Amino acid sequence: MTEHRVQAQYETFPYPERDPADETKRLITGSPSWPQEMDHWLWGGARDWSRPLRALVAGGGTGDGLIQLAQMLTDAGRPYRITYVDLSAAAREIAEERAAIRGLTNIEFVTGSLLNAPDMGAFDYIDCCGVLHHLPEPQAGFDALARALALGGGIGLMVYAPLGRCGVYPLQDAFNTALGHLLPRKKLAAARRIFDRVPGGHPFKRNPHLGDHKASDAGFFDLLLHSSDRPYTMPQLLGALGCAGLDLAGVPEPALYDPATILPEGVSLPEGLDAAARMGLAEALRGTMKTHVVYAVPRGGVVAPPLGKPQAVPHLKGVDPRRLGQAVAQKGRVRITLGGEATELALPKAAAPLIVGIDGRRDLAAIGAAARLDPIAFATRWRPVERALAGYGLLHYSTLLKGR
Ligand SMILES: C[S@@+](CC[C@H](N)C(=O)[O-])C[C@H]1O[C@@H](n2cnc3c(N)ncnc32)[C@H](O)[C@@H]1O
Repeated sequence: MTEHRVQAQYETFPYPERDPADETKRLITGSPSWPQEMDHWLWGGARDWSRPLRALVAGGGTGDGLIQLAQMLTDAGRPYRITYVDLSAAAREIAEERAAIRGLTNIEFVTGSLLNAPDMGAFDYIDCCGVLHHLPEPQAGFDALARALALGGGIGLMVYAPLGRCGVYPLQDAFNTALGHLLPRKKLAAARRIFDRVPGGHPFKRNPHLGDHKASDAGFFDLLLHSSDRPYTMPQLLGALGCAGLDLAGVPEPALYDPATILPEGVSLPEGLDAAARMGLAEALRGTMKTHVVYAVPRGGVVAPPLGKPQAVPHLKGVDPRRLGQAVAQKGRVRITLGGEATELALPKAAAPLIVGIDGRRDLAAIGAAARLDPIAFATRWRPVERALAGYGLLHYSTLLKGR
């Protein structure tokens, strides 16, 4: 019953709302499934990209993650074969059209359930963004995806988090109680009228982190009228991964999950807090996280990113190396805003030429040699850059473009 309702929602309101014609103007990027970020967290920044990547996009919706992955691998001239699966035929139609406009052809489109993923193949990579929390039994989804991984494969997934979505669930429950008997379009129309009468003091209306309801009908429905939606704290998510036989390989912005980055100087934590408790503590102290993005691998398979290794090839995400280098040379610090939180990163002015040297092709040894630094002097200048930028998801190591 619940799965039918979920399917009916996404047939009426394919999510997210996208116009395929926009593919000629821009590429939507994000986490998970940015290839360099996948490599950094899943394959030690050293995947052999000459081997075709067999990927599954599970619950691919209108195609954001699918298009990003396919387009970036195409641009990099790397071979791949992607299977897209979603319950909604309407969402698939939009995703297919987006792929067609871009001339992306190595994609198989399937209308069906991700619970059948193990029958669809053995995958090097599985993207599952914003889906598992909508399943009637989410753990069955975690388990199915884990079973669909090939040897050495990994998953990038996103699920909702409770604290940044403060106010959503009481209103969602209320709307579903009041309007659950209506078909999707009528439900939306009635909910919009009620929403206008909900007082400004309602926790939902006071939460500055929520905006999907203003963006589109699909966004309003997804946020406030979903019939099947449960958020995960980070410890709960780690529990679900563990039950599926998966280990956490990393999160795109590890600094946000480190309580030390929010504690004032002189305040230390009790001994004995394990990694899950520390991440949960950071989540609770920040209170702003609406989602968790994680990369995960089968138990025992974590390969650490190649921090500081001479052969590691650094990439910057969403930042121009020249502009960042200039800002660092002038001020020795940069300001970034992530998840509504502004942070100042201190970066040594002397590291500016190293930052400018990042082009996604040169490894650390080559960047150090170009700056005429011996390995020890290089490491001294590079380490704070790496810690700050990798900590906030701005720097990754990957061989994606090596030799290109
Ligand atoms: C919130 S949308 C996310 C779409 C896309 N992954 C993204 O991040 O833009 C959730 C999608 O999951 C799909 N979905 C829900 N349950 C599913 C299932 N059991 N198997 C496959 N797809 C499912 C829905 O049809 C919908 O398109």
